[in-house]
Amino acid sequence: MKIEVISATPLKYVSPALVVGCFEDLQDELFNACDTALEGCLGRLYASQEFRGKINSSRLIHTLGKLPAERLLLVGLGKKNELDDERLRQAAGNAVQALRGARVSSFATALNLVGIPETALEAVCEGTLLGSYSFDQYKTKDRDERFGFEEMTLLLPKGSNKKEAVARVKHTVALCLGVSLARDLVSHPGNVATTGYLAETAHEIAARHDLTCEILELDELERLGMNALVAVGKGSAEPPRLIILEYRGASEKERPVVLVGKGVTFDSGGISIKPGAGMEEMKTDMAGGAAVLGAMEAAAALKLPVNLVGIIPAAENMPDAKAYKPGDVVTSLSGQTIEITNTDAEGRLVLCDALHYAQKYKPTAMIDLATLTGACVVALGHEASGLMGNDQRLVNALKKAGEKCGERAWELPLWDGYGEAMKSDIADLKNAGSRDGGSITAGWFLKQFVGKTRWAHLDIAGTAWSDKARPCSPKGATGVGVRLLIKYLRGK
Ligand code: BES
Ligand code: MN
Ligand code: ZN
Repeated sequence: MKIEVISATPLKYVSPALVVGCFEDLQDELFNACDTALEGCLGRLYASQEFRGKINSSRLIHTLGKLPAERLLLVGLGKKNELDDERLRQAAGNAVQALRGARVSSFATALNLVGIPETALEAVCEGTLLGSYSFDQYKTKDRDERFGFEEMTLLLPKGSNKKEAVARVKHTVALCLGVSLARDLVSHPGNVATTGYLAETAHEIAARHDLTCEILELDELERLGMNALVAVGKGSAEPPRLIILEYRGASEKERPVVLVGKGVTFDSGGISIKPGAGMEEMKTDMAGGAAVLGAMEAAAALKLPVNLVGIIPAAENMPDAKAYKPGDVVTSLSGQTIEITNTDAEGRLVLCDALHYAQKYKPTAMIDLATLTGACVVALGHEASGLMGNDQRLVNALKKAGEKCGERAWELPLWDGYGEAMKSDIADLKNAGSRDGGSITAGWFLKQFVGKTRWAHLDIAGTAWSDKARPCSPKGATGVGVRLLIKYLRGK
């Protein structure tokens, strides 16, 4: 969708639809002007409680020539003093959902609210772009009848700084392109989004923004001794790969932040195979890797003043004659030996080699994202990602970034006692313990591979995919992590 910015009076602007945000407890100048033009229609809606400005509500009405805009879309903003960026994002998301329902592809949005947060423009653009996302590449029927948005025109009040507004829109568009990239990757089926496809995507990002891209292929992974990553990929016809993207936005001397994303392109569970019901969702098991690719794309487009390395250990977890088995012992890149007690605990295996490898970049901080454990979905549901780490400042910074951008993360402890469950009788570690504290024991396992590097781990198993539509995220892939990472990197 194109976003245009102009200074104009909403009541004089001709468009297929005018979107107006409405408070529950306050009727501002624009609201009253619309109400007058429509001969009291808005007042009636409030009086009859058909629409009262509540959050997550909207109401589309035809103006029948009483306003230059053909339709008026009222969007609830809730109570005036409770308005924040997240509510604005959601209101904008709800607005585009309503417009999609009415097949209105171009519209104008009035941004004339008094005393709204300074970041309102970004929030509205973000909600609009994220809420209008759809993924229908695999639908072949009725192509010409399919709906697509064309343009949103942001109407700024007189006297606002248009140049600055245009720059802010441009920023938000770049960020949302990163989110869409991540969503697309997660939405693609496992037979398309293979390890090779992820590598190809990394190459494309590198070419677009002049980043360095390196792909370590199977023979190189074996030569280096990345046996944990190699083990997970052994049962698949798609070879495992280590994808490395480097972005330089700061001086050469500055140590980078390393982002690591789990890239299991399909997780059947391997020999410890998963039950059939719902297994198709395991095409999303590369969502951590997708978030890293999306964040690299956005960071480069935004020209963030940081050095970044994105690392994606990619593999497909399948059962086969050559597959790794329960009882096998593998020697990880770090030298630590791991007894495989469950081939379905494969995420920590691909990550442990990547986290060890990442230390060669001498990172100031390392953040990994992974759809790592079903236990995290049990603990936090779909409202927050699990957050763990060995550095409280880093953990706090990520938590705060998440709150600001609406991708919440909640800390779980990583006390030493949790490690007891991961001790093996014959090797240094085992890859799966009991079900108890499953997200934490997985996090504890990862911690054994980060050395002294400041590190945090985000378990996005419950947040990468949504079975229900949300205002800023239609059903399916959420692209979680991209906005959180960029928010964190911007605050650094
Ligand atoms: N990819 C799964 C975790 C997952 C579950 C992601 C549900 C998204 C939704 C992971 O590889 C896995 O299978 N974890 C096991 C670990 C267990 C065997 C220790 C799990 O959570 O059951
Ligand atoms: Mn698994
Ligand atoms: Zn998995």
